[in-house]
Amino acid sequence: MREKLQQILDQALCEIGSAEEKEALEAARVRYLGKKGELTAILRGMGQLSAEERPLIGQIANEVRGKIEAAIEEAGQRAAVFELERRLKKETLDVTLPGKRITLGKKHPLTTVLDEVIDIFTGMGYSIAEGPEVELVHYNFDMLNAPKTHPSREPSDTFYINDEIVLRTQTSPIQARVMEKTQPPIRIIAPGRVFRNDEFDATHSPMFHQIEGLVIDKNITLGDLKGTLETFAKTLYGEETAIRLRPSYFPFTEPSAEMDISCFKCHGKGCPMCKGEGWIEVLGCGMVHPNVLRACGIDPEIYTGFAFGVGLERITLFRYKIDDLRLLFDNDERFLQQF
Ligand code: DAH
Repeated sequence: MREKLQQILDQALCEIGSAEEKEALEAARVRYLGKKGELTAILRGMGQLSAEERPLIGQIANEVRGKIEAAIEEAGQRAAVFELERRLKKETLDVTLPGKRITLGKKHPLTTVLDEVIDIFTGMGYSIAEGPEVELVHYNFDMLNAPKTHPSREPSDTFYINDEIVLRTQTSPIQARVMEKTQPPIRIIAPGRVFRNDEFDATHSPMFHQIEGLVIDKNITLGDLKGTLETFAKTLYGEETAIRLRPSYFPFTEPSAEMDISCFKCHGKGCPMCKGEGWIEVLGCGMVHPNVLRACGIDPEIYTGFAFGVGLERITLFRYKIDDLRLLFDNDERFLQQF
């Protein structure tokens, strides 16, 4: 019996000594001291011993139990230290490494130019108007004096929701909406998204932005239009920029014109940017057609006015000398970071 106890003790101490983790120690505790443990089995069997042997073996067995418990206790502390060291090693934080930089966003070039345009016109006393992107045919075409046969009404050009509703093809319907509600003087610009059934390429997009301008008052002349657009062009493209008005046609203006600016690259000499012309087309404009004024309840005998419509993408591409419209919509940070 004594040899058996000694053997259990040796084996237990050896096992505990080599256990590095808490789980291994717990297994050893169960194996030797647990209810079904080896030592417990011996203590149970003591009934068969003689009366002389019993206290002696009992004493030895208790000593063995005490030694095993002490060894487990000590090994437990060792395991805790070991465990902590392992965790510290795994979770080390190198405070000398550079931190992760949070990159600051910035305005999209379209927003930058739009904000500038808004600044220019609010500086001249204009206010901002808005209208719906899903628009009635009534405002997008009819109120703007567009004949029923006008090619822009074709479904091949315009996105129809149904016969009466379209995705607006221009910001001009906002003119009609404002004039209908407001008596002159009117001085507004109206920026917004517009939609056309175009393929996406370097110069076209099915969605783009326009900025509409409208001024209605007594004695407004083509001179006022020209002066206003000149101020606009010089502020946006530099003092040396010249403008010219070329006769054109829009249903809602009479007379109508396209405004060109002198090429900012060659200053009028002719280069690939302006296709040798020396001039670059920037926007459409004109004196508001009497039919439009009348349809909106404004008396064309008393009031006159001018209007213009600028493509925001177009003036942004020129402004930053970008040669592909699609770059503005790709949202590639490597591109956008440059502005
Ligand atoms: N709405 C025209 C277009 O999309 C642009 C335009 C031309 C607007 C002349 C105007 C204007 O207000 O007077 O092509």
